[in-house]
This record gives sequence, structure tokens and C-alpha cells, in this order.
Amino acid sequence: MAKLPPFGTVFAPQMAVASFEEGAFGAWEIEKTADFSLHPAAHVFHYGSACFEGLKAHRGLDGSARIFRLDAHAARLVQSAELLCLPPPPVEMTVAMVEEVVRTNRDEIPEPPGSLYLRPTLVGTEANIGAAAHPPASGLYFVIASPVGDYFSGGIRPLRILIEEEARRSTEGFGMAKTGGNYAAALRTVVAARKDLGADQVLFAPNGLVEETGASNFLLISDDVVVTAPLSGSYLHGVTRDSTLRLAERLGYRVEERPLPVQEVLDWEGEAALSGTAAVLSGVGTFIHKGEEITVGSGEVGANTMRLRRALTDIHSGVAEDPFGWVSVV
Ligand SMILES: Cc1ncc(COP(=O)(O)O)c(C=O)c1O
Repeated sequence: MAKLPPFGTVFAPQMAVASFEEGAFGAWEIEKTADFSLHPAAHVFHYGSACFEGLKAHRGLDGSARIFRLDAHAARLVQSAELLCLPPPPVEMTVAMVEEVVRTNRDEIPEPPGSLYLRPTLVGTEANIGAAAHPPASGLYFVIASPVGDYFSGGIRPLRILIEEEARRSTEGFGMAKTGGNYAAALRTVVAARKDLGADQVLFAPNGLVEETGASNFLLISDDVVVTAPLSGSYLHGVTRDSTLRLAERLGYRVEERPLPVQEVLDWEGEAALSGTAAVLSGVGTFIHKGEEITVGSGEVGANTMRLRRALTDIHSGVAEDPFGWVSVV
């Protein structure tokens, strides 16, 4: 496969765009992917009225375009929009927009393991810097697409993860919103971990209990069990997390969703992995905790992690059947 540029830096030629006024969406259209012109007082620039989704379309073995768990992502966008007091885009509207963006950009879908990353995004554009305490009356809803390869540079390799017990990524109740503010809140910690420790990401574990990393969920994996923190309002309810747990159960693993103390992660003798649309399932090789480096298992990406990753990617590309009805073929 031809080498793809860094994740998220090139864009497919067509996007879908709609606007909203007073909570009502207008008709959406397919347009050329191009700049928007926004007033400098646009609500999103000042008060962070923005939320988004991230999902992928994969090229099937038969050349078809296969969108993974579109309904689940459309439903999560509704949840995020409600938390931000933005008008929730109806699920059917998101489904129609995403499917059309995939159809119209079909030739842009790279061969596996590449994919077409899709980014539905909702922003408040009302020009009103006095509206700090009001949701924007007007805004845009658009879906852009980006042909992508691996999220972590260097392909499949064991990651270095800092375990952080002091700083929080977000707050109770807001962490489950997929909104830029949460990434902004985590950024300082992630940047410092990368610069000072060469870490790939940070696992946030406020008060000693694991939540998630800056851009993915977190799982402990062994030959017979997959353990992850229970869903809460504090972190993003990952679609890949859910898919991995359901696939793991089907493959005979026991699945435990329960509070996960940092000490258990440090003492774990099996594997650890990050799950996310971008990360897929990426194995952890090293934890960094309070100045100490702890090797996870053999220090390489584990066999169970690779097995579960494969089970997932085989459904993406259609190599395996899709027992859960997760894929929309367009
Ligand atoms: C903060 C955060 N947590 C978790 C996830 C995983 O969510 P999903 O599996 O739905 O992509 C993501 C996105 O990939 C994320 O940005």
C-alpha cells in the first residue's frame, strides 16, 4: 500500500453541510471540501460550542464501502450535543449525511489497513460574544472525510503510557461528551508526558482509579479475561470498547466491567491495550508511573491483543462475518 500522510492531514474532496437556526436543521448538501467563512465573534471561537464524532469506512474485499457502527456514533453525537446545549442532529440525518459522504468519496477509501476516517462536527456560529450563558442560536453541522493509515506513528508497536493520578482529563458528567474542550483540558498533561518522558499517551486515573487515555479507552487483557472500567459520566463511552468487549465474550473471554485501581494495572501479568476508532486496539509495552518504568508482559504487543484486534479488523474489511450487524455497506 502506498504510504499515507500523517493521520488526519489530508481530506477527501466532498463534504456534507447543513446549518441550524433556532434549534432547527435545514436541508443538508454535498459540497466541495473548502474553508468556511465565520464571523470572529462566532460562538464556537469563544465559548467552545462544538462537538464531534469519529468513525471509519473501510474498503471491503469486494471493493464495497463498509461503515462501522454508524448508528452508535450518530447516537453518541446526540448525547454530546445535549450535554453542550446544542441542537442534537437527528440520527437519520447523520446516517444519511455520512453514507452520502462515503458514497461520493468512495474512491478515496484506502486499502486495508487504511480507511476513510469520518468526522461529523457540530459548531455554534452565532456572532455574539455576549452569549457566554446562552447556547448559540445558529450553527453548522458538517461531515468531512480523511483517508488515514495508522494513528500511532510506526505502525503496530508497543506503546509507552504514563499513568497520571493527579491531573484529570475532564470532569464528572462532561467527560462523556466528545467535545474539543475535553481534549484541550487534557493537552498540557499529554504534551508534557510526550516531551519529558517520551510517552505516547497518558492514562488518566484520578484518585487511583483508571478512566481513559487522552484519546482512547483502556483494557487489561489476559488469556481468559478482559477487564475495563465501568461506564460513567467521566469518560467517553467508546464504540471500540463496546465492540471489543462483545467480540471478546463471543471468543470465550470473561468480560469484567468494574472499578480498575492503578495498583491492579501495575501488578497485572497479562496484556494492556488502548481501544478507539483511531487506535483500533493498540498494545501497551511500558507504563511510566511515579518515575518508574514498568514493562507490561513481554514488553511487546500481546497475542490476545492481536487476536482481538484481528477479530475487529476482519469485520471491518468483511473477511469475517458481521454477527452483530455493525457494518453499513454503501
Ligand atoms: C478521549 C477518547 N476516549 C475514548 C475514545 C474511543 O472511542 P471510540 O472507540 O468510539 O472511537 C476516543 C476516540 O477514539 C477518545 O477520543
